[in-house]
Amino acid sequence: MKISTVLLLFTIVTTSLKCSFCQRIVEGHVTDSLWFRFNMRLWTFRINSNDAILVENGEISTTKNEAIKALTFNNNKNIKFPPVKVHEKFPNLVAYQIFNCSVKDVRHKNFEHLSEIQAVYLGYNLITHISSDTFIDLPKLKFLSLQGNQLQSIDGHMFENLKNLKELFLNDNHINFISRSAFDDLTELRNISIAENKIEYLTEEHFQKNTKLENIFLNRNKIRSLSPTMFDNMKLLVGVNLKDNLCIDGDFYVDIEHCITRFSELKEKIKKDC
Ligand SMILES: *[C@@H]1O[C@H](CO)[C@@H](O)[C@H](O)[C@H]1NC(C)=O
Ligand SMILES: *[C@@H]1O[C@H](CO)[C@@H](O)[C@H](O)[C@H]1NC(C)=O
Repeated sequence: MKISTVLLLFTIVTTSLKCSFCQRIVEGHVTDSLWFRFNMRLWTFRINSNDAILVENGEISTTKNEAIKALTFNNNKNIKFPPVKVHEKFPNLVAYQIFNCSVKDVRHKNFEHLSEIQAVYLGYNLITHISSDTFIDLPKLKFLSLQGNQLQSIDGHMFENLKNLKELFLNDNHINFISRSAFDDLTELRNISIAENKIEYLTEEHFQKNTKLENIFLNRNKIRSLSPTMFDNMKLLVGVNLKDNLCIDGDFYVDIEHCITRFSELKEKIKKDC
């Protein structure tokens, strides 16, 4: 009898300690903030910097607010999981930022029904995994940053359905494998950075559908094989940065001042060395 009472008390004390520590509900405040990608001010919900989401399925504690256009979590290592049911609170979000937190994993339930979103910033977290249907509800997405994370491979479904994406930042990860079909749906893509990764090769197929690309950053990888014709269909190409690679080390761009392009030089170099 006595032992079970002690056990019960012990359980109550440890559970309440654990629960106050493993917070699931985060609160925030509204500000009128300038978002430079949009070049305008947006009503922004900022999560309080001392709040934490240390377990999955955390929610934002506020009433539904259709006027909120942006949501931001910044510089908070106690945010380990993105919240769920965000659309129930802020159905009209256009910008969503989780920057410099400790998120490891992002899933569909973190972005579901947020169909107005145009910009997602997930830079400088600890992301190792993105489920294949994570961004499937975001057909209006134009800007996606995953820079400064720990991604190792980009599978064929990660960017499915992002038909309006214009800019994709994957730089500063540990990427050593990219599926040949990873970018197939990104037919509006203008700028891509995969700089500072561990890529060893890219084939003709990788950018086959991305004919509107203007700028490609592949500097600081381990590239030892490329296709000489892989840039041929890109009529809007302005620059390909291939500095600090194994078979090639250079920045190839359109020199407007002197009215020359360096892309034929690039092609010759690839033919010869890669
Ligand atoms: C990231 O957040 C930490 C606090 O959690 C802060 O000290 C650091 O300066 C931040 N880094 C950047 C790049 O903002
Ligand atoms: C692509 O990058 C260039 C150079 O930084 C920038 O001027 C241009 O606006 C970008 N394009 C898009 C669609 O954001």
